[in-house]
Amino acid sequence: MQQVRGVIARSKGAPVEVVTVNVPDPGPGEAVVKVRACGVCHTDLHYREGGINDEFPFLLGHEAAGVVEAVGAGVENVAPGDFVILNWRAVCGSCRACDRGEPWYCFSTHNAAQKMTLEDGTELSPALGIGAFADKTLVHSGQCTKVDPSADPAAVGLLGCGVMAGIGAAINTGEVTRGKTVAVIGCGGVGAAAVMGSALAGASKVIAVDIDDQKLEWARQMGATHTVNSKETDPVEAVKDLTGGFGADVVIEAVGRPETYKQAFYARDLAGTVVLVGVPTPEMQLPDIPLLDFFGRGGALKSSWYGDCLPSRDFPMLVDLYQQGRLDLDAFITERVGLEDVEKAFGRMHEGDVLRSVVIL
Ligand code: APR
Ligand code: ZN
Ligand code: ZN
Repeated sequence: MQQVRGVIARSKGAPVEVVTVNVPDPGPGEAVVKVRACGVCHTDLHYREGGINDEFPFLLGHEAAGVVEAVGAGVENVAPGDFVILNWRAVCGSCRACDRGEPWYCFSTHNAAQKMTLEDGTELSPALGIGAFADKTLVHSGQCTKVDPSADPAAVGLLGCGVMAGIGAAINTGEVTRGKTVAVIGCGGVGAAAVMGSALAGASKVIAVDIDDQKLEWARQMGATHTVNSKETDPVEAVKDLTGGFGADVVIEAVGRPETYKQAFYARDLAGTVVLVGVPTPEMQLPDIPLLDFFGRGGALKSSWYGDCLPSRDFPMLVDLYQQGRLDLDAFITERVGLEDVEKAFGRMHEGDVLRSVVIL
């Protein structure tokens, strides 16, 4: 066992605290990772607000890269010294999704069996089974994806959650390929990554929609060919105007609200695809849309969890593109902060003036 600093949410809505965390030595199948960088994601704030579950106290942070310090018995995929991105989809290999060859839907993902605790022995619930706002964290070895060690941890750690969700919503779930037209509604960290993923995949048009001009400006830097401020212009009409009157082949909703979902639905061409990657809250309902429109317009309405990514396949590939200068992950980093600054970063996130704050350790 060893003691490190970690950021916890002790109770619903209370400001986060930096405390001492007990990290057990890795047991069978587990790894202890020395965290180098961890992005501040909305889901950390949702945990703090009690919006995920009531299993307080939480050890926050889950969008991270680091170096493996020690591994337990039977671990073969990583060894001490390996540079890894942490993932929350350590696939089991034997559930019904894995069995049918679709492990990116794995229904039985692995987490560490042992618990990290407070000094008094209180068990911590690590956010998304990771808990990386800490000097070191204990995870299942399958949650470690080995990548090129020369990459900047702050940039590639972002692939561990939000940026992967956005890129994957475009290239995995939406199946954006060369020549497709794409609209992305909501261009925060996730939507901006969907813009970047669409550009990377060769979309002929990438239309960014947001209500905030700063976000639209960033989206343009990430590959949007057109921008629409939906506070000023009807986004459905604007997307149609930009696509010969038809609508986009793929529309990615990265806000998570009924009204923007409805816009996505109607901004889509016949037989097109809507991808919902924004996360709704429990009280939200499907928007009021005639069932005949669902039927008559054809196509596909999909949801994207973690960008339908397979970490072992997608992380090394995207890190290579980053290292070659073909995927500008640095563009997501608005600020680099310390472990004691997580509460402040939540505030900035709430104000909407960052794409990502990244804690550097
Ligand atoms: N129309 C268009 N854009 C909107 C609207 C709207 N009605 N309302 C909000 N937005 C924009 C915001 O201006 C912001 O740029 O949506 C974006 C949301 O971005 P972030 O708050 O940075 O959230 P992000 O990290 O991108 O996550 C998007 O996925 O992970 C979930 O909880 C997260 O639901 C959120 C979504
Ligand atoms: Zn599985
Ligand atoms: Zn996240």
